[in-house]
Amino acid sequence: MASDRNHYELNRHTDASQNGTNGVNGVNGVTPRGRLAGKNAVITGGAGGIGLETTILFLREGASVLMCDISEPALKRAIAIAKKAAPHMTGKVETIKCDVSKESDVQAAVEHLDAWGGLDVMFNNAGIMHSDDADAIDTPEKIWDLTQNINVKGVWYGSKHAVLALRRHNKKVASIINTASMVALVGSATPQLAYTASKGAVLAMTRELAIVHAREGYRFNALCPAPLNTPLLQDWLGDDQEKRHRREVHFPMGRFGEAIEQAQAVLWLASDESSFVNGTDFVVDGGLTKAYVTPEGPAPAPPNNLGR
Ligand SMILES: NC(=O)c1ccc[n+]([C@@H]2O[C@H](COP(=O)([O-])OP(=O)(O)OC[C@H]3O[C@@H](n4cnc5c(N)ncnc54)[C@H](O)[C@@H]3O)[C@@H](O)[C@H]2O)c1
Repeated sequence: MASDRNHYELNRHTDASQNGTNGVNGVNGVTPRGRLAGKNAVITGGAGGIGLETTILFLREGASVLMCDISEPALKRAIAIAKKAAPHMTGKVETIKCDVSKESDVQAAVEHLDAWGGLDVMFNNAGIMHSDDADAIDTPEKIWDLTQNINVKGVWYGSKHAVLALRRHNKKVASIINTASMVALVGSATPQLAYTASKGAVLAMTRELAIVHAREGYRFNALCPAPLNTPLLQDWLGDDQEKRHRREVHFPMGRFGEAIEQAQAVLWLASDESSFVNGTDFVVDGGLTKAYVTPEGPAPAPPNNLGR
């Protein structure tokens, strides 16, 4: 068994060196390895942070990607970055303006892939954390509604139209990944009640969808990131050192997470490698939700993001 595997690995290395790539692990980090070869993916919130990093990884692994975002200028910038970061892509990449809180927008995005052979992977990732979000007393109702409309309804619409498309194309295997958050699992004394409630809803909704559609071959998993070094959080924290310290002291690894670290998890969940992983609260947090007293000393270096 072991020698068969070695033989297989050796052949893969040989094939890779013959076709000019850098081996099975894509040593230069750019060559396609095909973990998503032939799959068509919709990524919402694709123009920034986790969505852009995921777009790049998906393209490098042979997928075709439709980047969806509410911001057209951001999409224009992001697709140029994605093409540059995935120069050997074998699939296609396109953009579409899409406000996930509008069902017709989400439907149009998913149906755009009908001409590509139909959707295989849906990453419902777009979300907001509004600066006026606060505690039970001070959160304005309009911020509550806006947050639920984007963060919860957006994921519902994405899941709904993904299932409809998968059935339309008679797909037997599919992966839907919904971005929740660590705050769906642990309480925070620095409240953003509307956001927290929305992410709890994403977690519960994803779990139920996973069970409902399990025998159709459609897997649903929720991604639970820790606080990240992306504009969503970093713009909100700004230069406020006290606000930063309140969070940083809880990080076992001594740093915020990077978008690429979430994207790597999404890639695995999207691929057939995770075929028996369904309904999980997939936590990517550097150990934060498992920590009591955290270590002291310098933080290990983070990986580099691909899109900046
Ligand atoms: N950054 C964090 O610390 C953190 C932690 C946990 C969970 N998350 C979640 O991860 C997801 C992605 O966050 P990020 O950090 O990459 O954020 P980001 O702000 O870098 O990117 C989010 C993208 O979503 C887009 N967007 C906003 N509203 C939209 C709408 N209505 N329709 C379509 N697109 C819309 C934005 O234009 C932006 O490009 C969000 O759901 C967020 O709640 C983030």
